[in-house]
Amino acid sequence: MDELSGKIAFITGSAGGIGLGIARACAQAGMRIVLSDIDERELGDSAAQLTDAGADVLAVPLDVTDREGWARAAGRVSEEMGPVQLLVNNAGASTFGMRFEEIGPAVWDRMIGINLTGVYNGVHTFLDAMRAAGGGHIVTTSSMGGLVGMAALAPYCATKFAVVGLSEVLRAELAEEQIGVSVLCPGGVRSRLWRTSRPVRGLPDSDTPPSDVSGQSANPAGMDPFEVGLRVLEAVVADEPYILTHPEFRDAVTERHERLLHGFDRAEAFTK
Ligand SMILES: NC(=O)c1ccc[n+]([C@@H]2O[C@H](COP(=O)([O-])OP(=O)(O)OC[C@H]3O[C@@H](n4cnc5c(N)ncnc54)[C@H](O)[C@@H]3O)[C@@H](O)[C@H]2O)c1
Repeated sequence: MDELSGKIAFITGSAGGIGLGIARACAQAGMRIVLSDIDERELGDSAAQLTDAGADVLAVPLDVTDREGWARAAGRVSEEMGPVQLLVNNAGASTFGMRFEEIGPAVWDRMIGINLTGVYNGVHTFLDAMRAAGGGHIVTTSSMGGLVGMAALAPYCATKFAVVGLSEVLRAELAEEQIGVSVLCPGGVRSRLWRTSRPVRGLPDSDTPPSDVSGQSANPAGMDPFEVGLRVLEAVVADEPYILTHPEFRDAVTERHERLLHGFDRAEAFTK
């Protein structure tokens, strides 16, 4: 997508954090923005702030697991704004710190529902309209946990790996249709993910951040979400497949790839 100004972006999970950072970057680029989130109160506050700053914003409450909700949202956007040309599947939840034994079926199903099926729902809802509009771009927020498996993150890594795969498939399938596809894989970003994920983990709301914030969204040393947003738009314009924000994870990804290549070395030795 060469020109962003005047185009419409639909961003899920954008009442705060990375989604709102992307929305702010879109506003700065002159885009029209559909903010969307399950949290209606935060959504209203963030939409009002963006509007006061001069952006053209429509706030659409949506649980990304609700297919009828997606259909209603698409109808509203098409009537009140126009065709979506940038879809950002960003809503997500984390089970940071929970080991596999602690993940009951309800937590597992909800994580798959939000982090994976929610992404399918978004693409399924907007793809035809994007084609009809002559093209566009789809960004899905994965994570460094979508490139490297880590302990105590089972459903998170499983879903974040899955959307990397889905994005690679979509990129291959949509290449001829002027629809770019990118997957965003950030490391630590300052956000309220530690809090917004509590219902998915079966915990009541609390505004007390975890005591150990290392590697967590509560870490004040995490990246500024607006910076992530600026990086996302730069990558959309350049049609980059992988949007990376944290160069310090290069070694971890290289080591994983070396382990994969070692598997091929072993296969070659075995078949000789
Ligand atoms: N913060 C980090 O360090 C980090 C790192 C890598 C990836 N991510 C990913 O970034 C994305 C955004 O997270 P964030 O860190 O900005 O946290 P955040 O809590 O600010 O944003 C997540 C948003 O998703 C919304 N949400 C949750 N369930 C939803 C649902 N069912 N339907 C619609 N909206 C829903 C929440 O209300 C929240 O506003 C997530 O996919 C997360 O996994 C975050």
